[in-house]
Amino acid sequence: MTSSPSSSVQQESGKRAAGEAALDFIRDGALVGLGTGSTVKYFLQALGERVQAGLRVRGVPTSRETAELARQWQIPLLPEQGEWELDVAVDGADQVDPHFHLIKGGGGALLREKIVAGAARTFVVLVDHTKCVPVLGNPMPVPVEVTPFGWPQSAKQLEALGGVPTLRKKQGTVFETDGGHYILDWLVDSIPDPVQLEARLNRIPGVVGNGLFVNQTSTLIIGSPDGVQIKHPSS
Ligand code: A5P
Repeated sequence: MTSSPSSSVQQESGKRAAGEAALDFIRDGALVGLGTGSTVKYFLQALGERVQAGLRVRGVPTSRETAELARQWQIPLLPEQGEWELDVAVDGADQVDPHFHLIKGGGGALLREKIVAGAARTFVVLVDHTKCVPVLGNPMPVPVEVTPFGWPQSAKQLEALGGVPTLRKKQGTVFETDGGHYILDWLVDSIPDPVQLEARLNRIPGVVGNGLFVNQTSTLIIGSPDGVQIKHPSS
C-alpha cells in the first residue's frame, strides 16, 4: 500500500511531535537508552539541543547510526560494554497493538534495542498514529535476527510455525546487523498472542533476537498532526 504525499507529510509531523514530547520524560542527570529510526531522530535532535543548553544526560545508543547522531548532537555516551542501570529508554516501533505489545526492528537494530529497553526502568515508545493496529502482523513482518551459520535451518523452523520468512537484503546484498547477524523478515497473518509467540521464537536454534517486544512499554506517545496522546498500559 503506498501513501499519498499528504499522508506521508502527516506521518512525518506525527513523528516529530512524538519525538519532541519524549523530552518531558528526561530528567537532569538521567541515563538514557537511545533508540534507532526516523522517529527517534527527532527525539535525538531535541535532546541534543537541550544538552547544548546545559541538560546533563548520558546515553546508550542502540545502533551505530544512533551513536553517530548522538555524537553529532554532542550527547555524551556510556561505554558499550558497561553495566548500565538506565532511567529510561526511548525508542520507536513499527506496530503497536492495544495491549502495548510491539513489532520493532524495521531498521535492523532490534537486538540492541531489546537489550537496552531491558536495562531501563521505563521504556517510552514513540510512534505516529499510523503505527497503531488492532492486531500485530501483516503487512508488517516480524524481524527475526539469526546467526549467518545455518540460517536456512532457522528459516525452515519459522516456516513450520506458519508465515513466510524472507532473508533481508539491502541494495542487492544480504543485510548484516551491527552484531554481524542476518535478519529473516517473517510475515505472519496476525499475531493474537505475541507473548507466547515471542517465547516460542526464542527457542529456535540460531535465533538471537526477535522483533516482538511484549510487556515492555511503560509509556506510549502517539504523535499526529494534531499533537500527541500519551498512554500507559494501566490507563
Ligand atoms: C529499528 O530497528 C526499529 O526497531 C525502529 O525503532 C522502528 O523500526 C521504528 O522506526 P521508524 O521510527 O523509522 O518508523
